[in-house]
Amino acid sequence: MRLRRSRCLTCYWHDGAFVVHPHPHGMPTALHPAAAEVLAAFEDWTTPGEAVELLGHLAPETAEEAVTALVRCGALLLHGSEEALDDERAARRWGSWMPEASFFHHATQGVYDPAPATPDAPGSAPSTPDAPDPAPAGSLPAPGPQEAPGPRPPLFTGFPDAPRVLLPRRPAGLRAPFDEVLYDRRTHRDFTGAPVSLETLASLLATTFGPVDFIDCGRGALYRRTSPQGGSRQEIDAYVGALRVDGLDPGWYHYDGLEHALGLLSEGCTPEDAVHLCAGQAWAGRPAFLVVLAARLERMSLKYPTPRAYRVCLLDAGHLGQTFALTATALGLGPAQTGAFRDSEVAGRCGLDGTGSVPLYVLAAGRPAPVDEDAPPPAGVAAFGATVLSGP
Ligand SMILES: Cc1cc2nc3c(=O)[nH]c(=O)nc-3n(C[C@H](O)[C@H](O)[C@H](O)COP(=O)(O)O)c2cc1C
Repeated sequence: MRLRRSRCLTCYWHDGAFVVHPHPHGMPTALHPAAAEVLAAFEDWTTPGEAVELLGHLAPETAEEAVTALVRCGALLLHGSEEALDDERAARRWGSWMPEASFFHHATQGVYDPAPATPDAPGSAPSTPDAPDPAPAGSLPAPGPQEAPGPRPPLFTGFPDAPRVLLPRRPAGLRAPFDEVLYDRRTHRDFTGAPVSLETLASLLATTFGPVDFIDCGRGALYRRTSPQGGSRQEIDAYVGALRVDGLDPGWYHYDGLEHALGLLSEGCTPEDAVHLCAGQAWAGRPAFLVVLAARLERMSLKYPTPRAYRVCLLDAGHLGQTFALTATALGLGPAQTGAFRDSEVAGRCGLDGTGSVPLYVLAAGRPAPVDEDAPPPAGVAAFGATVLSGP
């Protein structure tokens, strides 16, 4: 019998226990930390006898016991088994995204209890992140499982000490036909450099991030926006990096949706800094403003303790990004967005700790250049010729 360590394996400490977590098929299992050494002996196909020899300083029965537990949890795979073939396929497909992305994807896929299984007590009852509470007929649907008791984070993030600008409330016209807005929306990377009015910025912020209505979740009020948001937790806050906005000094601001105000967090915001923050992308210095979407995690985790809920934060950011892009288009602006930014520096500009409140997405908008020099050309014969259009 020859065994090999799973290529898709992550080990960590959780609640004081050493956990071996193979994925996608294995099961997170709390083991003695010596398991890591045993796993090291199975870099390539190895018999348990050979491994025991390699691990000479461990008592043979300890090593054998560990091998049994590691096979059971899927961390050691049998040569020629379906699991071993699957493991190779998974390692090939995830390639350079391993181990971080594959682990995140698979470890948050299942419905594991936060506590890892022990070899003799595997698994636990599944839970779904958006399973509704039983609600009396006619009442509003509950947004999810029971919230943990204790103080709730405020519905709206506030920076009471920040100097603020109350924004104009005159709504800008958003009457452009929906089909025009939808098909006209394009990512812009070239802008005229003309400033955007405070009214336009205010309309974009209110429409995308402001509250639309308030609902009773059974433990208090929640609010809804123009975008769907998991459990209506509204964990995502918006921070504005103003580069060229009439009536607004360049700087970093928090958008307070309750007051419809911008609170100044740090003075100054230059095109060079915007480019730096967006990982050196030249276009990032050209829009009139950037908008950082940052998740205040406790708003989500308090209600949904399963780590899977972090995925919902990412999905929520995507929804807000699309609403932002469509609204900007309807307002005559060119929208842009990027997932490539310097997380900790962006967090610093926005006055965030970068741990409990984390930037997820950077959006931008400005007056679009009449001809976008950075726009990709339409695909022609050569491009189609180089493309496999369909296949299995
Ligand atoms: C999540 C996400 C991240 C993106 N990141 C970048 C980026 O880092 N740099 C960039 O120039 N464009 C970025 N884009 C824009 C895409 O390249 C663009 O959406 C795509 O080419 C399709 O063009 P369209 O938006 O005009 O339909 C991003 C888009 C999305 C949705």
